[in-house]
Amino acid sequence: MGQDMSAYLDGLLYADFLTYWDYIHLDTLLSLQSPKTQFPDEEIFIMYHQITELYFKLSLHECTQIAEHPALTAEFFTNRVKRINAYFNSLVSSFEVMVNGMEKEQFLKFRMSLLPASGFQSGQYRMIEICATDFNRLVDKGVREELSNASITEQFEHIYWKSGATELASGKQTLTLKQFIKKYASTFLELANARQHTNFSALYLKLEQEGQDVSSLANELRQLDFYVNVEWPLSHYKSAVRYLERDPVDIAATGGTNWQKYLPPRFQKRIFYPFLWTELQIEEWGKSWVMSALKE
Ligand code: HEM
Repeated sequence: MGQDMSAYLDGLLYADFLTYWDYIHLDTLLSLQSPKTQFPDEEIFIMYHQITELYFKLSLHECTQIAEHPALTAEFFTNRVKRINAYFNSLVSSFEVMVNGMEKEQFLKFRMSLLPASGFQSGQYRMIEICATDFNRLVDKGVREELSNASITEQFEHIYWKSGATELASGKQTLTLKQFIKKYASTFLELANARQHTNFSALYLKLEQEGQDVSSLANELRQLDFYVNVEWPLSHYKSAVRYLERDPVDIAATGGTNWQKYLPPRFQKRIFYPFLWTELQIEEWGKSWVMSALKE
C-alpha cells in the first residue's frame, strides 16, 4: 500500500477489542420493536415480520451475486439458489410462529391500529420476484401475452399484485396499494430494467444455450418456484384463514384485498419457470395432490 505497516500495527494495539454485541449491532436490533398497542402478542407479530424481512434480504443478497457475477457458471448459480431455497425452507416451516403463535382475540384488536399497513407492502418480496423471473411473468394473466413485447413501464402498469389490491366494485386502488406504489415504483422499475437480461430465467436459458449442464440448476429453480409461489403463500394463507376467516362473513384484510380470492396459489398461479414444469403441473398449480407428488 506504500504506507507504514508499523503504524497500522500500533492502531490495532490502541483499538478497543471487538465485542459480539457491537459487531452485530445487537442493541440497535433489539430496539427496533415498537408496538402500537398494549397487547403483548403484537411484539410477536412485529418480530416475525422482521425475521422474514431479514431472510428476504439474505435472498436478495444471493440474487445480486448471481446476477452480477462476471463469469457465471451453472455450478455457482446452483449453489446460490440452494442458499435461497434454504432461507425459504426456514420461512415456510417457521410460519407456525404466526399460525398458532398469537391469541386471535389480541390479533383482531391490535390489527385495527395498523390499518392500512399490510405485509402486502413488503418491497423486498416483490424484488425477489423481479430477480427470479422475466418481468412479463409478473404481469396479470389476462394481459400477459398481449404485453409480452411492451416496455417494462407499460408492463408494470399491469403487474399482477395491483389487481389484488383494487376494489372490485369501483375498480379503485386501495390506499395500501397507492402508498406502496408511491414508495417503491421507481425502485421496482429500476431493478426490473437492470434484471431484464440477468433475471434467473434469462440466465438459466443462457447457460443452457451455452451447453452447460443445467440439470441440477433446473431442480433448484423448480424448488425455488415451488417455495416462493406455492409453499410460502400456502403457509401465509393458513395464517389469514386462522385469524380472518369468520362465518358467515370474512373479516376484512388490513390491505383491503378480497384475500380469499387473491391469496391462494391455485388462483394466483404465479409461476417463475413454466418451461421447467409439465402442462399438467401448470394446470394443477397449487392443488394439493400435485404438491405431495412433487415432494416425493
Ligand atoms: C397473522 C399473520 C398474517 C395475516 C393474518 C396476514 C394477512 C394477509 C392478508 C389478508 C393479505 C392480503 C393483502 C391485504 O389485503 O392486506 C396479506 C398479504 C401479504 N402478506 Fe400477510 N399476513 C400475515 C403475516 C404475514 C407475514 C409474517 C408476512 C411477512 C413479510 C406477510 C407478508 C405478506 C405479503 C408479502 C403479502 C402479499 C402477498 C401477495 O401479493 O400474494 N404476511 N397478508
